[in-house]
Amino acid sequence: MAQLWGGRFTKETDQLVYNFNASISFDKKFYRQDMEGSMAHVKMLAKVGILTEQEEKEILEGIQGILNDVENGSLEISDKYEDIHSFVEATLIDRIGDAGKKLHTGRSRNDQVALDMKLYTRDELISIRSELLDLIKTCHGLMKEHIGTAMPGFTHLQKAQPLTLAHHIGAYMEMFKRDYSRLNDIYDRMNYCPLGSGALAGTTYPLDREMTASLLGFYGPTLNSMDSVSDRDYVIELLNALSIIMMHLSRFCEEIILWNSNEYQFIEIDDAYSTGSSIMPQKKNPDIAELVRGKTGRVYGALNSILTTMKGIPLAYNKDMQEDKELTFDAYDTVKGCLALFHGMLKTITFHKDVMEKSAKNGFTNATDAADYLVNHGVPFRDAHSIVGQLVLYCIDKNISLDDMTLEEYKAISPVFEDDIYDAISIKTCIEKRNTIGAPGRTAMENVIAINQQWLENL
Ligand code: ARG
Repeated sequence: MAQLWGGRFTKETDQLVYNFNASISFDKKFYRQDMEGSMAHVKMLAKVGILTEQEEKEILEGIQGILNDVENGSLEISDKYEDIHSFVEATLIDRIGDAGKKLHTGRSRNDQVALDMKLYTRDELISIRSELLDLIKTCHGLMKEHIGTAMPGFTHLQKAQPLTLAHHIGAYMEMFKRDYSRLNDIYDRMNYCPLGSGALAGTTYPLDREMTASLLGFYGPTLNSMDSVSDRDYVIELLNALSIIMMHLSRFCEEIILWNSNEYQFIEIDDAYSTGSSIMPQKKNPDIAELVRGKTGRVYGALNSILTTMKGIPLAYNKDMQEDKELTFDAYDTVKGCLALFHGMLKTITFHKDVMEKSAKNGFTNATDAADYLVNHGVPFRDAHSIVGQLVLYCIDKNISLDDMTLEEYKAISPVFEDDIYDAISIKTCIEKRNTIGAPGRTAMENVIAINQQWLENL
């Protein structure tokens, strides 16, 4: 057991207490951020005259040496230290002696851990954002490719109206763009540096908090030292944004699973992204999509956990806050993994355009257009709705589609129908006529794709 705070104690910590209290098994994940934060702190201490240039040099070289050795595997982060902060400080003192004992001047583990968590979260946000952007670019490409690929649109999982694959993917594109902008908002709100807040009440040293903030890429220092050491809003906000990303991925996965089923056969998931059955030789299962859908609950769990942990904590730091890490780190890793795998799966899917188009033609997806035809010929919409209802009933009875009816059959139900009804209810017309912005018609879609292209170029 190696503790930084033993001076005041007369007894060794009970081993179970030590284990329960220690965080090194999980906070070692941010060893790099911890050392980067320490190096900025040391540079600032030297600049304000608290450390000599010589001490600064020794400590910086010492920390850099520890960082290199951890990264090249020659130094193991041992569980015999309470946390990553103790590990770095103790190793530094071992290696460089007395100068190392000055590292923690004007700092508490409370502002240190607040900084580490923020730096780590910021790094994770950036890498998740870049995974998300890759996925967005693929969606953009698929939209361009499938502007003319007809498919049925569903409500209540019943065929509703025809649309295109570009339009369907475009719906997810909008969700992912919102996700992306949520990440940017969080970044802007969180990017203030807590270092220099001390345990809770700042310090008596003349620290230059602007300097450390700027060395570490923050917009500036945080403005209240109590808030700084007890704020985990940015973790909650990010887990919230990640939960929404997972919800979007999960819905997309659900559709991919349906589309890939024997009943739909709209798509085929690539062999590289499918798995087999140990007993049924014919099976090719969409496990990746199911796992992404399944892991969504895990990310929601992390969000719920931290919200609950934080809700009763009086100001300022309390040890409850150590619980901010394990599930959060797991959620960051889970989302990164899910985004990468989902993206790989989506890129390699084969779309069976013929099946999708055929399906769009069946199931009376053009019934609304038949009603609109009547409206355009002076029939009030409510009457038109009822007439087309009769047509549908007639077709169901004969097991045919609206396109298969003869003009005589149409006229028997309403004399308003003329020969141009066939063109009016063709799948192509049904889609092409829908050209208000946001609709699946080609002109509308081209417009949206151009807007998205601009969005990507302006990032
Ligand atoms: N391991 C602790 C955490 O994660 C570091 C802060 C310790 N501070 C303290 N006052 N005990 O929150």
